[in-house]
Amino acid sequence: MKRVAILISGGGSNMVALAQSMLGDHPARPCLVLSNVASAGGLAKAQAMGIPTAVVDHKPYGKDREAFEGALIAAIDAHQPDVIAMAGFMHILTPKFITHYAGRMLNIHPSLLPKYKGLHTHARALEAGDTEAGCSVHEVTSELDGGPILGQARVPVLADDSADTLAARVLPMEHQLYPAVLRRFVQGDRTMVVLP
Ligand code: GAR
Repeated sequence: MKRVAILISGGGSNMVALAQSMLGDHPARPCLVLSNVASAGGLAKAQAMGIPTAVVDHKPYGKDREAFEGALIAAIDAHQPDVIAMAGFMHILTPKFITHYAGRMLNIHPSLLPKYKGLHTHARALEAGDTEAGCSVHEVTSELDGGPILGQARVPVLADDSADTLAARVLPMEHQLYPAVLRRFVQGDRTMVVLP
């Protein structure tokens, strides 16, 4: 059975979707939900599902990224994960951290990568006049939002969309896409998942 550590910073709806998928004959189980924000709503949801949780707050470390990431690695590795799934983890990691988990770290990003790396993805898609939007799951490499794409899901952009309405249409697709990619990934299958 593979062990999956899930990294969050907020509400954790993708974390819940991942954790709920890892049941029965699934080849993996969640071993840890870790947040860099102590108030992240996802922590209580993980606890309610019986998943061990941890908080490594980046704030006390100030600009000392190395010390923060050292604490992060220690907290993660204490649970011996095979795979690290970033699910709304809103803190940029250094190449040193990423190298430590090379080949076994995934991230979900709310755009059709390679479009709109970084923040405000839905607003940027609307501003560009795109007719479709979506989300991507990719392997994490040291290029921000730039690793190999392992899955994408598309939704239409509607004429009266705001960034919020578009985000609300993309999020349920994230909840389908990420578990589908994770299931393949933990079995060593990197075939791209395309939804719908
Ligand atoms: C999700 O929409 C995810 O794609 C996005 O944050 C949200 C987290 O929601 N991630 C990024 O923007 C990463 N740069 P959740 O906490 O409910 O899963």
